[in-house]
Amino acid sequence: MNPHEKQFETLSVTYGERGQRPADGVEDVVVPLHLSSTYEVSDINPDVGLEDLDPDEGQFLYSRLSNPTRNALEHRLAALEGGEHGFAFASGTAAIVATVMAAVEPGDHVVAFDDLYGGTRTMLTRLFEERLHVDVSFVDAREVDAVADAMREETSLVWMETPTNPLLRLCDIEAIAEVARDHDALLGVDNTFLSPACQNPLELGADVVVHSTTKYLNGHSDSLGGAAITDCPNLSEEIAFLQRVGMGNMLSPFDSYLVLRGMKTLPLRMRQHNENAMEVARFFEDHDRVRAVHYPGLESHPQHELAERQMSGYGGVLSVELDTDLDGTAAFLGHLSEFALAVSLGGVESLVEHPATMTHSPLSQAERDELGISDSLIRISVGVEHVDDLISDLEAGFAALASHSMASSDAAAMSDDD
Ligand SMILES: Cc1ncc(COP(=O)(O)O)c(C=O)c1O
Repeated sequence: MNPHEKQFETLSVTYGERGQRPADGVEDVVVPLHLSSTYEVSDINPDVGLEDLDPDEGQFLYSRLSNPTRNALEHRLAALEGGEHGFAFASGTAAIVATVMAAVEPGDHVVAFDDLYGGTRTMLTRLFEERLHVDVSFVDAREVDAVADAMREETSLVWMETPTNPLLRLCDIEAIAEVARDHDALLGVDNTFLSPACQNPLELGADVVVHSTTKYLNGHSDSLGGAAITDCPNLSEEIAFLQRVGMGNMLSPFDSYLVLRGMKTLPLRMRQHNENAMEVARFFEDHDRVRAVHYPGLESHPQHELAERQMSGYGGVLSVELDTDLDGTAAFLGHLSEFALAVSLGGVESLVEHPATMTHSPLSQAERDELGISDSLIRISVGVEHVDDLISDLEAGFAALASHSMASSDAAAMSDDD
């Protein structure tokens, strides 16, 4: 099947699976879970090296190098991002470390968004800068000029994430791709927050896209995984080497099976995530106990015009600054029941988290202040439940916040009387 001749929804359901039936006579409709760590070969052949084995021809030797279930997933990942080569990793972090490692050498320079996922930022500083002597400049990539100004002769990689976590800031992939190209640098984009159903960085000029498949691609909060997809043959060769030999950080067959299954409903899920998140964002925007709502789908988002241009859906994640303090925020969160208080995002169930004390607690107060992460900021991953139930739940949170505020002002009045 030529992926270019099929629609996204069709590729999501079957691409990579048909023609993956190595068990003679068994016509599985779904790719089976291949747990074998090794494969029997018919004979020895001194003329065939490891690199000559073609999994698409049923040639498997050892499961770290290639595995039929993972192979099917890697084809589907590539097809959905519109790339040639897909790689499935043990986590999003594993995908990012292999991709960055494939693109840089000691002495190189990387320009990265200053609002990256915390783990990626720590990886770039503690592993690449401090141990591997790769210089990294973090810039506010909402401004393309900030990226252009940071470029040096030795810049080999530009690393972006859009939208960012938790403030949903955007960067202009197409414009930044041009800056990278002008400097012979590669552009990598972490597309975790939107998935290929809502944004296609390769089409916009990126050289490589990564995902934490833990989030929307798997979509059911029951598997950790990562992906890298690229069209560049050299980069692809390096990533393949690192995944299979240099690091051995590929995705397990069972997780590959889960992600393949999860991806079948990606377009359906994303449609509902987008729709529900928009309604929830508007509900918050209209509420008088809210200071700010960060969601690229709202006209009030400062980069809404860019969002309309480069995204085909605005995703299921938003963040909200409640008009209260830490205790009021705790009262609000403590009275939600449909939204589980948990980190992560992208699953079918709605989650809420408190960046200041959860995902961003490793940062100092000063660093959080600089980024704009206050004690009353909450981040929500809107699931696919009925939106009326989600909004009722949020109303219960606001009712608890109102009671809390009343009790606090009564207590303050009593202490004034004393
Ligand atoms: C944008 C983004 N990239 C990468 C990662 C890392 O993925 P994983 O937890 O699968 O290693 C995360 C995790 O939350 C993330 O949000």
